[in-house]
Amino acid sequence: MLCRVGVLVSGRGTNLQSIIDKSISGEIDAEVVVVISDNPKAQALNRARKVGIKALYLDPATEKPILVGGAEDKYLQVLKENQVDLVCLAGFMRVLKEKFISEYKWRIMNIHPALLPSFKGLHAQRQALNSGERFSGATVHFVTEDVDGGPIILQAVVPIYQDDTEESLSQRILKEEHRIYPECINLLAKGKIQIKDNKVIIGEING
Ligand code: GRF
Repeated sequence: MLCRVGVLVSGRGTNLQSIIDKSISGEIDAEVVVVISDNPKAQALNRARKVGIKALYLDPATEKPILVGGAEDKYLQVLKENQVDLVCLAGFMRVLKEKFISEYKWRIMNIHPALLPSFKGLHAQRQALNSGERFSGATVHFVTEDVDGGPIILQAVVPIYQDDTEESLSQRILKEEHRIYPECINLLAKGKIQIKDNKVIIGEING
């Protein structure tokens, strides 16, 4: 059975694109059934519409970077109506709160452009550059109320070069994001992810 994926976005949508491409080509056992944006101008909406995927702007109704109240209910309603099994945050610039997270417990993933738990929050690539570290990367994790702190599913490491700019490092990381996010979705779709003691275990699930 194909895993029905709902993707929440705010902007460019290159991660969404890689998920769509790999679902259409059959590389992953998933189908993107709905895309929701808190930004009516998000390029991600056009990427979805171009291939006939339902794509909606839903007003978040707050200036704060969170999803709460009636807007939260509306997002949940659309996800339910579309029988979404897995919610993927792909550049969605709002923090999800307890109600949303408990409705989709262990069924929400996020991608972050750093090796968590280092460099949580905004401008992770800039934080990595400023730290002087030699490596950074990308992390896909489950979303919990601990922002950027949920159990890690997969990570990919990239080098940081001395002449890197925020842009060049971001591009190197993005390439890995596009590889590991669909892979994580596929692992979940194939029933290969368990969570034990707040840690992700990957492999065949017996019994
Ligand atoms: C990515 O770097 C992702 O890690 C972060 O936001 C960015 C979204 O890019 N959460 P895109 O919209 O998928 O191109």
